Amino acid sequence: MKENIAIFASGNGTNAENIIRYFQEKKTAEVRLVLTNRQKAPVRGRAASLGVPCFCFTKDEWEAGTPVLDMLARHQVDAIVLAGFLLRVSPAILDRYAGHIINIHPSLLPKFGGKGMYGTHVHEAVLAAGEQVSGITIHHVDGHYDEGAIICQHTCPVLPGDTPETLAQRVHGLEYAYYPRVIEEWVAGDRT
Ligand code: GAR
Repeated sequence: MKENIAIFASGNGTNAENIIRYFQEKKTAEVRLVLTNRQKAPVRGRAASLGVPCFCFTKDEWEAGTPVLDMLARHQVDAIVLAGFLLRVSPAILDRYAGHIINIHPSLLPKFGGKGMYGTHVHEAVLAAGEQVSGITIHHVDGHYDEGAIICQHTCPVLPGDTPETLAQRVHGLEYAYYPRVIEEWVAGDRT
């Protein structure tokens, strides 16, 4: 049976685009909806150009919970994928989708995770710490930033002369290669 996915994203949305494109070629799952908290997030244009509806919710709608849950129900969403989403997932959504929400983080958790650790801030911290290896973590979502059970991690080297931008590019490469496939296995029940 085809699983219906919603992607939550706050920014550029290159992962969201990559995931949408991946499942447009597949029968296993479909991205039914993108949700964002930012009016000007480029992910909105990416979703629109791929024919996927994008719902931009306000702070009040997010805090109330019900408008977002209603939107997910209207699109018969089975599973939620976070891809560069910067808000903490609300208890109402965690309750309704317990065990059905995953996130990707651009470091090897538990290192360089937690509140404020997103996007380029993560890569800056990895470089400042002199790490020789970085990578991605795909994990379940609970009520705390970056603390849910880890599904998998993949690594890449940190090279001499790396900047946050060059490291981000390498890490994004891992994200594009692995996240859609892991999502596919997870919705099929082959990843726990
Ligand atoms: C990705 O690298 C993702 O891992 C990261 O934000 C980036 C979004 O890029 N997420 C976090 O840092 C979550 N703490 P994108 O908007 O181009 O997909």
